[in-house]
Amino acid sequence: MGTNLSVKEKLFSCYQSAKSHIDFSPELGIVLGSGLGALADEIDIKETLSYSEIDGFPVSTVAGHKGRFVFGYMDGVPVVIMQGRVHYYEGYPITDTVLPVRLMKLFGIKALLLTNASGSLNREFKAGDFMLIKDHIMNFVPSPLVGANIEELGPRFPDMSEVYSKVLSECVRQAAADAEIHLREGVYVQLTGPNYETPSEVNMCRLLGGDAVGMSTAAEAVAARHAGLKVVGISCVSNLGCGISDKPLSHVEVMEAADKAAPKFKQLIRGSVAKIHSKLA
Ligand code: HPA
Repeated sequence: MGTNLSVKEKLFSCYQSAKSHIDFSPELGIVLGSGLGALADEIDIKETLSYSEIDGFPVSTVAGHKGRFVFGYMDGVPVVIMQGRVHYYEGYPITDTVLPVRLMKLFGIKALLLTNASGSLNREFKAGDFMLIKDHIMNFVPSPLVGANIEELGPRFPDMSEVYSKVLSECVRQAAADAEIHLREGVYVQLTGPNYETPSEVNMCRLLGGDAVGMSTAAEAVAARHAGLKVVGISCVSNLGCGISDKPLSHVEVMEAADKAAPKFKQLIRGSVAKIHSKLA
């Protein structure tokens, strides 16, 4: 595989490679964040595609990230699930971190459900809470749209006034109510990572208007909106932001907290997916 492909050439070459393996038409894309990937094993799986099988695909290196697309039916809804994502902190260009989302767009999805694990900024949040992402701040990482515009996907200057669909967000609220899950709502801040924040950085993010902080998601949401997808986001607050509690942060604890929240989280996702599907027709 040549190394000098443009972002667009790389995308379409990955698409050709993926298409030669896959014969499934998903309507909804789902990205499962740290510690939340197990849900993909529970759907009616029709096909799977490891990222490493796709020529030129950026392969994730983080422990706990499996790295494959799972195609199948979640309660009858045709979905493609990303079990593991590509992070900016792994050293990939930001355009690579959104390549999988663009690929799912080419697979035919109409909407994208993004999930992640995050640290709290809002002092009312507790570890294990779920937060509906109402908006985001991502100016600490480059826009994934910098560079030649891919006209086939969307316009040069896309509107971002409603990144997270109000209609699809309402589906998540209803699913949470059905499952008796107390759903928080707020603004997600994407930082580069891989280090966790200092207490002062957590304060800064709160002052900027953030409620939760993490190392993913917002750039994917921007690329998805650029490509005309409807987007909805749910964050699993795996820990209090640094300095809010005096406990040092570790990836192992973040994963354990996400693991612990997983059963409820699965319930929330499944309930949301059924409702979201009814809005895509
Ligand atoms: N900060 C950044 N990213 C995270 C955190 C955090 O506290 N928890 C999970 N992902």
